[in-house]
Amino acid sequence: RHPGWPARLGPIRVAAGDVAVRPIRLRDAGDWSRIRLRDQEHLEPWEPTGPGPWRDRNSYWSWPAQWTALRSLARRGQCLPYTITLDGEFAGQITVGNVIRASLRSAWVGYWVSSSVVKGGVATAAVALVVDHAFSSAGLHRIEATVRPENTPSIKVLTKAGFRQEGLFKRYLDVAGDWRDHYCYAMTVEESGPGLVARLVAAGRAEYL
Ligand code: ACO
Repeated sequence: RHPGWPARLGPIRVAAGDVAVRPIRLRDAGDWSRIRLRDQEHLEPWEPTGPGPWRDRNSYWSWPAQWTALRSLARRGQCLPYTITLDGEFAGQITVGNVIRASLRSAWVGYWVSSSVVKGGVATAAVALVVDHAFSSAGLHRIEATVRPENTPSIKVLTKAGFRQEGLFKRYLDVAGDWRDHYCYAMTVEESGPGLVARLVAAGRAEYL
């Protein structure tokens, strides 16, 4: 086991309802696949290019292999793979990946939520819960997020959560079938102040339960 894993975080209340995160489960397969097959248009423009068609990569039977791979990275301390829940129901995923320790103590964060729950503060709440945890129990110092300049909703999530724009990575990531420019956003523990959740609450964007 490595510091900070496994853990359940939240819930906190936002406009959409009560948001929490918990480790991914094998039995997330049904919700995960159903939502992702329905939401291809919502998700595909922003996700790394994968092998084969969307319907195969997101079928019910492709989840066990992904779950196994993420869980083994989590056990080795390289990843914190979470399911986002809204009022206890599966609502998306948030992952802290490429965890490097020693003198870097850094990682990236990435997320998606179901099209049926967008614009209610769910992703921002999940980012706040996970980044606070990464900076406390998991002992990290810096979290980075890369986002396409066209992805206005995700840029809003990072800005509301308190991330700072650091630069533009040219032709950085193979997303939706081509090398795409990405803004790099980041935050260090020193910039997190009283915590991201505490700042959302102070700004009236979330409530403790
Ligand atoms: N134009 C302008 N603003 C928009 C639009 C739009 N088309 N759509 C949403 N917004 C705003 C919302 O109003 C909200 O801002 P507000 O709180 O000021 O009103 C903000 O964008 C979204 O904030 P949340 O409600 O906290 O986020 P949400 O739960 O809707 O999830 C997310 C946002 C994760 C980007 C979702 O849209 C999604 O899953 N998109 C597809 C996958 C994706 O892009 N993932 C992120 C990749 S980048 C990364 O992981 C670092």
